[in-house]
Amino acid sequence: MEQHRIGADITVLSDNAEVPGIGFLPVNTFVIHGEQPVVVDTGLSTPDKDYVSALAQVIDPADVRWVWLTHPDRDHTGGLWQLLEAAPQAKLITTFGGAGILGCEYEVPMHRLQLLNPGQSLDIGDRTLTAWRPPLFDSPVTVGFQESLGGALLASDCFGGPMPSAELASGPDLREVSDDERRAAQLLWAAVDSPWVRWMDRAVHVRHVDQLRAMTPSAILSTHLPPAVGMNDKLYETLLEAPDGPEFSWPDQAALDAMLASFEPPTSASAAAPAPVG
Ligand SMILES: [Fe+2]
Ligand SMILES: [Fe+2]
Repeated sequence: MEQHRIGADITVLSDNAEVPGIGFLPVNTFVIHGEQPVVVDTGLSTPDKDYVSALAQVIDPADVRWVWLTHPDRDHTGGLWQLLEAAPQAKLITTFGGAGILGCEYEVPMHRLQLLNPGQSLDIGDRTLTAWRPPLFDSPVTVGFQESLGGALLASDCFGGPMPSAELASGPDLREVSDDERRAAQLLWAAVDSPWVRWMDRAVHVRHVDQLRAMTPSAILSTHLPPAVGMNDKLYETLLEAPDGPEFSWPDQAALDAMLASFEPPTSASAAAPAPVG
């Protein structure tokens, strides 16, 4: 994971996932180094990830006081339970629905929950976190937030965009990506992750974006986009285009068959390779 500092007191831990045919999807988590430190989302769930060790490079996990899970998709919950174990003081901020979905797979410790619905705020000492529902999302329990001290907006899946390379996906600054690439990536992701945006009443969509504009975030921090500082208007402009953006269809069985057929069969040498020692 790459580490980048945003503003005075936010660290982004940037990972990415290669999605065939789509690109390299940034998968970020964030640490707000406040009086009561907050971790936002906990990364990918594949077995090769060790989120708590990556986090330990920027903060002692035992100091974490809040874990804000924007929604319980598996690209956000990777290190969740290990982190709650390593951070005994921490409470898990989610919604009742979020806890319910987690409960389909895990025993959720109710005494460690802090429920927060869109519009509600939580005082965490040096700042307030105000829960907010982003205009685009892929889970009905999605809740992002704005923090009051620096004004950063945590946007969950909204504003995501698969990047053409792993380097750009885990980069420190969206300004490293050309406007054309950023716009195309954002529209692709909107079609992939929130296909219902095409059915949105355009006037309602504009109103949602206007409400967001009125929040005047100092930075837009999406789980699936490099950190965006000073780019609000460009991001809003593309978001407004999303209902009329390109449609997306997943590869079908014929495409999968073609993909599998393109793989090299194992050579007799590699098939007969001895088992590793030790
Ligand atoms: Fe999601
Ligand atoms: Fe996601």
